[in-house]
Amino acid sequence: MLVHDDTPSSDWLLVGSRSNLKLGMSDENVSIAEEPRAEKRESEMLFGFWYPALRSTGVRGSRLAKAMLLGIPLVVGRDAEGRPFALRDVCPHRGMPLSYGRNDGATVECSYHGWRFDAHSGQCREIPSLTPDSKLKVERIFVGCFPAEERDGYIWVYIPEAGDRDPHPGRAPELPVFSRNYRITHLSAELPCGVDLGIMGLMDPAHGPFVHQSWWWRSRRSIHEKEKRFEPIPFGFRMAAHTPSKNSAPYRLLRMYGDSITTTIDFVLPNLRLEQIRCGTAWFSSRATVTPITADRCRIDFCAAWNVFPWMPFIVPIFRLFAKQFLRQDQQVMIQQSETAPYRPNLMLVDDADRQARWYLQLKAALQKSRATGEPMQHPMSGPVTLRWRS
Ligand code: FES
Ligand SMILES: [Fe+2]
Repeated sequence: MLVHDDTPSSDWLLVGSRSNLKLGMSDENVSIAEEPRAEKRESEMLFGFWYPALRSTGVRGSRLAKAMLLGIPLVVGRDAEGRPFALRDVCPHRGMPLSYGRNDGATVECSYHGWRFDAHSGQCREIPSLTPDSKLKVERIFVGCFPAEERDGYIWVYIPEAGDRDPHPGRAPELPVFSRNYRITHLSAELPCGVDLGIMGLMDPAHGPFVHQSWWWRSRRSIHEKEKRFEPIPFGFRMAAHTPSKNSAPYRLLRMYGDSITTTIDFVLPNLRLEQIRCGTAWFSSRATVTPITADRCRIDFCAAWNVFPWMPFIVPIFRLFAKQFLRQDQQVMIQQSETAPYRPNLMLVDDADRQARWYLQLKAALQKSRATGEPMQHPMSGPVTLRWRS
């Protein structure tokens, strides 16, 4: 049976047997949404949010670094006090990337004709070619500038919505930590796909036993039925605190802390997946973000902090080794998947295993609708939901 579904998933075939959210067709096996496929790649990217532009360590002293967020070229640097700034990497004079210029700690000087711009406001401070009697109002010339903040080892940049000339974005997201002393590490991987596919990869329980097969994590034979409870949270959803999967070695190791282990996983728009594992006073906290670089390229930034196993030598490199393998497996799959992108395949969201992906699309659509109408955002979940799948 073919049904039009006005959920945001207009590009997606929605296939489900157990739960049809709004179509009231529980005895039907399949619900399918097929709407005209518009050029949607641009609209996949959500403006009006903070995104990690690059690692803090990539911006040292007076060096200017290039970055790209949501298709916007950026030059990122630090002022004399070390505070980060981000400007559009396009000189308003003749379009030279400002990143080839010079940073004196307060202004950025273009390498072509030496125009100087305030690092934090983007306002033009000097045009060297002007004679003293020039009437040109230099202070009326601006290069685009963006709020920038340093957190958890990244320079975050706020990308406002179109037309928002005076954004007040609040603070950039922070990784939750639960003790004074802890270890922290960062990894990243670029993916040759739009941000939607990248994010769906984050919340896709069914690929684990196939993509992440290894002795220490999952094997095909370890597939079993799971039941997880989810609840709505502002701008996202939470996999409620539960005892983690028994089929992975790292969790078995955690048992030595004695206390019962609980995991909570949140997804929050635009792109944050936050996982916390607690076991008495021991904790592990991680955040994965999938950031759109352009309409068809994104990057996973993974940041993890923990206070467990402080006595274990080389714990950071050991952890990184495993995490890197994990990320590489995801990256490899996305690279292979991107081979079919030119053929613009119709894709499917199937039953409970893909329900989180569907919520993500619905949350995005609800946000966009609320922004367009000024009405409060309607959360796609009306209350807690239990999902069941095999993985
Ligand atoms: S292009 Fe930048 S000053 Fe001319
Ligand atoms: Fe994965």
